[in-house]
Amino acid sequence: SQEIPSLHYAFRDNFKIGAAVHTGLIRTEGDFIARHYNSITAENQMKFEEIHPEEERYAFEAGDEIVDFAVRNGMSVRGHTLVWHNQTSDWVFQDPAGGTASRELLLSRLKSHIDTVVGRYKGHISAWDVVNEAIEDKTDLTMRDTKWLQILGEDYLLEAFRLAHAADPQALLFYNDYNETDPVKREKIYELVKGLLEKGAPIHGIGMQGHWNIHGPSIEDIRMAIERYASLNVQLHITELDLSVFRHEDRRTDLIEPTAEMMELQEQRYEEIFRLFLEYQASITSVTFWGTSDHYTWLDNFPVRGRKNWPFVFDQQRQPKESFWRLLNAA
Ligand code: XIL
Repeated sequence: SQEIPSLHYAFRDNFKIGAAVHTGLIRTEGDFIARHYNSITAENQMKFEEIHPEEERYAFEAGDEIVDFAVRNGMSVRGHTLVWHNQTSDWVFQDPAGGTASRELLLSRLKSHIDTVVGRYKGHISAWDVVNEAIEDKTDLTMRDTKWLQILGEDYLLEAFRLAHAADPQALLFYNDYNETDPVKREKIYELVKGLLEKGAPIHGIGMQGHWNIHGPSIEDIRMAIERYASLNVQLHITELDLSVFRHEDRRTDLIEPTAEMMELQEQRYEEIFRLFLEYQASITSVTFWGTSDHYTWLDNFPVRGRKNWPFVFDQQRQPKESFWRLLNAA
């Protein structure tokens, strides 16, 4: 595939182009990944439960392999993620007797975890998603009701950012979330980050996950979120972009390939979305897809088990889809 232009090279004057990966992908399609992407994120292998499965045991093999691959290929790495309510083992929140950990105990574990993980990759990870998905979606509450919040109170965010900054002063530190274009959630995220900045937190950016679909959110809603976040003078990273061919509530399982109509909508949306990102390239410094090609995506099983999805700009054979060429034209 020598004649196929490199995706990240096409956007070299605009922003990094990233992909979420795992060690299996690096081993089987490493050349393809290095050709088209100049940033990578571990899809799961740096999450708390994977990299720190037991109090006294860290499992760095996969993370090391991902970082080594990036270093060898001159790519950036986004670290994902230090503090989250999901994929974090129960032991973190328990005391030795099996009860709930005290504030002191959980704070000391937070510090050990951040010191050790951020310290391990110091100088090699350019941006960390320090806190992921801390905002509540469904009710009027601002903060999501998690063990972190219950035991530490709202200050856990400030603490996590301070610890991460101390462990690697060069790394850019991000707050990352989804449904970021919903007007209500957008304002909660804005206020949270504004408050952290006012308290002097070392926070440098907002991660917009970008788990969108071919029907929505609207370009105007995405634009309003970008403008609102950018008004805080922080960097914006699109951290987990995918355009599902299904609406969120669509539960159909009959398709073995996408319809022509789905593909056309996807092409159009990819082009519009990237044109929008380019308008805000002074703020948006990185755009990461939550996968590399339609060969594999977490959406293959989510939210409908066993259902295939086709959310990217490369097909199942890792060949450019029409969307890819539309992006190259827009660049
Ligand atoms: C997802 C992974 O893609 C899946 O493989 C895993 O089973 C669950 O987590 N928001 C995030 C990501 O911040 O970490 C999630 O990744 C997708 C939603």
